[in-house]
Parts: sequence; C-alpha cells; structure tokens
Amino acid sequence: MTDLLLSALIGYLLGSIPFGVIVTRLGGAGDLRKIGSGNIGTTNVLRTGRKELAAATLLGDMLKATVAVLVARHFWGETAGLVGGAAAFLGHVFPVWLKFKGGKGVATYLGALIGVFWPVALAFAGVWIAVAKITKYSSASALAASLCAPLLLAIFVDSITAIVFAGLSIALWQLHHENIGRLMAGEESRIGEKSAAPD
Ligand code: G3P
Repeated sequence: MTDLLLSALIGYLLGSIPFGVIVTRLGGAGDLRKIGSGNIGTTNVLRTGRKELAAATLLGDMLKATVAVLVARHFWGETAGLVGGAAAFLGHVFPVWLKFKGGKGVATYLGALIGVFWPVALAFAGVWIAVAKITKYSSASALAASLCAPLLLAIFVDSITAIVFAGLSIALWQLHHENIGRLMAGEESRIGEKSAAPD
C-alpha cells in the first residue's frame, strides 16, 4: 500500500510541473494563461507562434508521465507504474503549483501510455495525426485518440489497464467540454491559428 501511495505522490508531483507555463515564460513569450484559450498545453503554446516552445512543452508534458510510470514500475512493479501514470495525469490537470488549475492532459496521457505500453501510444499518436491532418482540430484529434487507447489496451494488455485509461479518457472528454461546444458550433480554432475563443 505504501508503494502505491509513494507512486501516486511521485506521479502527482512530476505531473504538476507546468512545462507550458515554464517554457513560455523562459522563452519570453509571456504568461500562457493569458494567451489564446488560456490552456497550459502545447496547442496553446503554438498560438504564441513559437514552434520550439510548443515542441519543448509537448516533450516535457509527455515525458513527465513516462518517467512517473517507469520509476514507479522499476521500484514497485506493474500496478505501481499504472498508479504513477494516472497520478501524473491528475497532477497535470490539478497542479499544486498553479492553485490546482491545470491543463487538459493530452500530452501527459500520451506520456503515461508510452510508459505503460508504447505500441498503444504509437497508435494514439497515429490517430491524433490522422484526425489532425483531416480536420486541423487539436481537440478533435485528442478526443478521437483517447477513444481508441482503452480499446486497444483491453485487447493487447489487460482489463485493469484498460479501465484505468478509460477513466482518464472520460476525464479528458470532460476537460474538453468547452472545446466540444465550440466544435459543435463550428467555432473551434484550428491548429496554429493565433486566436482562440476564450475558455
Ligand atoms: O490538448 C488541448 C487541446 O486539445 C485543445 O487546446 O488550447 O485549444 O483548448 P485548446
């Protein structure tokens, strides 16, 4: 039990690191929470027009969850790895450093998947890229990819892992409720567009 609590704590603290806010500030692009949608993720960093900052955000937000899974699994086993990854997602969404007002968790979800079972992470990225190429909507791409991941985990890994990621997918859909509203109203901004309707 202590192992799982430690995995959750490490995962949460790693997930709490708001890479988007940090790299945007360090890169001299201002306060990300006052730009575009106000979200702290890669899509919003792109709205600064600084692709290198967006790439750094994607890498940081992804790898913090991968590290959480790998560290917890290395010390305490498979279940601990799963707990570490889920906690990293929660840390990103409710970061202690930003008064618990965080992001929507897409990159962190992907990072956790990389640590848990990388082939499904590859499929997640493939679905994201395919939908993004067709629609140019980051949110729609993430929503579609998050539907596929639990199904693939159920087939290729096990039901516990699939159930945990299904829970994260439900959270991810909930976190995108404003994006879903804008998609349905035809008002969602496309990838790379400078402006976005305020959240
Ligand atoms: O991952 C978040 C993305 O799907 C939407 O971001 O900034 O347009 O709300 P944003």
